[in-house]
Parts: sequence; structure tokens; C-alpha cells
Amino acid sequence: MRNPLIIMIITFFPIIFLSFTHKNKTIQTSKAADVNYIIPNDIQEIINNSCYGCHNNDSKSIKSKMKLNFDKLSTMKIGKRVGKLNKIHDVIEENEMPPKKFLKKYPDKSLSDEDGEKLASWAINMASQYINE
Ligand code: HEC
Repeated sequence: MRNPLIIMIITFFPIIFLSFTHKNKTIQTSKAADVNYIIPNDIQEIINNSCYGCHNNDSKSIKSKMKLNFDKLSTMKIGKRVGKLNKIHDVIEENEMPPKKFLKKYPDKSLSDEDGEKLASWAINMASQYINE
């Protein structure tokens, strides 16, 4: 009766051991990815002018900060962050953001084609950088 038990322990121990070391590696990768999260100044300026007012910790609109909060982007899990970055790219490509109603009131907050292009490519480049890690 003892032998099968010992054989089981000998077989499964390396598997359990390996799965733990694998987990550690994943954590290290996401830390490395954190270091790479950079918003260049010109991109930050575009965000501040056209997006940040609605998508920040103190935004009055719960819906907009639930959907995207720039203050949380740097600390959120990589997988979720990649999703948000892709969304940023998509809403700009689709001309959905900033909302048209808002732009009627505040036309100076609109994104120029050039700024939209810059912000969208920053977001997609950041996202693909994580995927390639
Ligand atoms: C006037 C406030 C306002 C501004 C300015 C604004 N947004 Fe939004 N944003 C919203 C609201 C409200 C929603 C939620 C819309 C909904 O789900 O119906 C939203 C949703 C989003 C989403 C989530 C879309 C989804 O489907 O999950 C993204 C991404 C986004 N905005 C990006 C941006 C970017 C990038 C800018 C700047 C170019 C910007 N927003 C400017 C109010 C704003």
C-alpha cells in the first residue's frame, strides 16, 4: 500500500514545484511591464485637454470613470490595462470621444486629427508592448 503513495508523491511533487516557479515568473513579467508604462509629455497634454476632465478619480460622472480612469490605468492589472488601451484607440478611431454633445459646449476640447492619431497610436503601441512581453 505504501509504494503507490510514494510513487504518487514523487510524480506530483515536481509538477507542483514547477507550477509555483511558473507563477513567480508571471509576476516578475508584470513588474517589468509596469516599468514600461510611460505617458510622454505630449500625450499627457492631449489627455489633459480632451479626456482627463471626465476620466479621473474625482470625475462627477460615475459612468465615465467606471469605463476609463486615467488615474487607475498605471496600477491596474496588465490584462485589464491592455483592454483599456485598446478601447482608447478604438473610441478615437470611431470618433466617439470626446462626446459630441460635450464638444458643442466646449469646442476647444476637441481632438485635432493629428492629436487623435498621436493618442491612438500611443495607446495601441503600449498595448502591443505588453502583449509582446
Ligand atoms: C465630457 C466627458 C468626457 C470626455 C471629455 C471624454 N469622455 Fe470618454 N467617456 C465618457 C462617458 C460618459 C463614457 C461612457 C459612455 C457610455 O458607456 O455610454 C465614456 C467612455 C469612454 C471609454 C470606454 C468606452 C467603452 O466602450 O468601454 C473610453 C475608452 C473613453 N471614454 C476614452 C476617452 C478618451 C480617449 C477621451 C479623450 C479623447 C475621452 N474619453 C473624453 C465621457 C467623456
